[in-house]
Amino acid sequence: MNILGIESSCDETAASVYSGGKILSNIIASQAIHEQFGGVVPELASRAHHKTIWQTVSQAIKEASVTMDQIDAIAVAQGPGLMGSLLVGLSFAKGLAISHDKPLIGVNHIDAHMYANFIEHKEVYPFIALIVSGGHTRLVQVIKPFNHKVLGQTRDDAAGEAFDKIGKILNLSYPAGPVMDKLSQTGDPDFHSFPRSMINKGLDFSFSGLKTSVLYYTQEKGEKFVQQNLNDICASVSAAITDVLATKLKRAVISNNYPHMMLAGGVSANSMLREKVQILAAEQELNLMIPSIRYCTDNAAMIAVTGAIKAREFSFDSLNIKPFARMSGD
Ligand code: KG4
Ligand code: ZN
Repeated sequence: MNILGIESSCDETAASVYSGGKILSNIIASQAIHEQFGGVVPELASRAHHKTIWQTVSQAIKEASVTMDQIDAIAVAQGPGLMGSLLVGLSFAKGLAISHDKPLIGVNHIDAHMYANFIEHKEVYPFIALIVSGGHTRLVQVIKPFNHKVLGQTRDDAAGEAFDKIGKILNLSYPAGPVMDKLSQTGDPDFHSFPRSMINKGLDFSFSGLKTSVLYYTQEKGEKFVQQNLNDICASVSAAITDVLATKLKRAVISNNYPHMMLAGGVSANSMLREKVQILAAEQELNLMIPSIRYCTDNAAMIAVTGAIKAREFSFDSLNIKPFARMSGD
């Protein structure tokens, strides 16, 4: 099957063609406009999606060397995400499906982050997944395709949100996650011990206390000190976030005794987290799935591959599917 994937849930307009286990194209148009505001402005995101979606999808089709006639189904991100942004992608996908007489597959964006792993890894079940993105931090038990049980989640900020908000305190550009990752690589993770909230208990997460702690720390030390020790502070913050994530993942895999585990979402691009989880996998003798960096952050290849798995397991969706901003339990 040739599947066209379309993603527009936040600030990336993306399109991809997936065919028989291979990604034929993976186009991502990022929206630079939000940088000046230090975060995503929903109305500007919708307008930017509107402006670029046609060109992005056309480019994905062209680079895949297929025609619309050769596309068997259109998979599109249905939610969670920004309502206005989702509406642009979903409406576009519906229009394309109607005009070319193609079936539609609505894809859950969070599921897609997980199933992105099956672009490069063998599809295996059951597994424990740690999904860490800008909007979500979840530990999930996946028994078989689309049979998920949430084991734990954040009670306040998501891990990516923590990186971004702390980055703002440190005057870093948005999104701060990748910037902090880079600076951390030449910093000392033991420079300062920031709090690791709820690390000793359960599978839920909390990152808002860390953000407050960094704020007080920078206020107390002053701007000059922060600038002079920026790499060490970034490394210490990254250590605090990734220690909590890796510890909770370890607790979940030990209590479930599954042979496979995976990392997914934008924060799975983080080098310190990847390293800690690799060590955990070796220690516990587990099969670890982590996507290549290009499939960690938002992309449409993950929508296309998830659409292919969903179409295999269930039937296609109706053209009446509606976008949803939140998932139940959020
Ligand atoms: O999955 P994603 O692209 O979008 C959402 O679904 O939210 O994740 C974006 C998040 C942002 O918060 C960004 O700062 C974070 O992922 N991120 C990183 C890294 N790359 C992206 N955080 C830490 N280290 C990175 N290398
Ligand atoms: Zn995402």
